[in-house]
Amino acid sequence: MSTVTFVEHDGTVHDVDLVEGESLMEIATSNGVPGIDGDCGGESACGTCHVIVDADWIGVTGTRSDEESQMVEMSPECVPNSRLACQVRAQAKLDGILVHLPEYQM
Ligand code: FES
Repeated sequence: MSTVTFVEHDGTVHDVDLVEGESLMEIATSNGVPGIDGDCGGESACGTCHVIVDADWIGVTGTRSDEESQMVEMSPECVPNSRLACQVRAQAKLDGILVHLPEYQM
């Protein structure tokens, strides 16, 4: 089974199943991962799905679009590897991906 690992700011680890075709936001919310709300339903419009992709994986996920950057850069915790989880589509090559959660969501 393919997995996604979400690590909360306090170090709590959540290993959940990677479902191809779903976004990382959908995977997190459907598995009850705390700290990812997805209030806008995946429209890049709320910023409540901010994640920080591990350095080993940012090259695999690709970089964010201008629209995504405009939203995620509103977070005081935004860093170069920040992504909106709703904009990262799960696919086989992301098996084992490690993403970190910020301390707070917008
Ligand atoms: S769910 Fe709203 S920006 Fe990702």
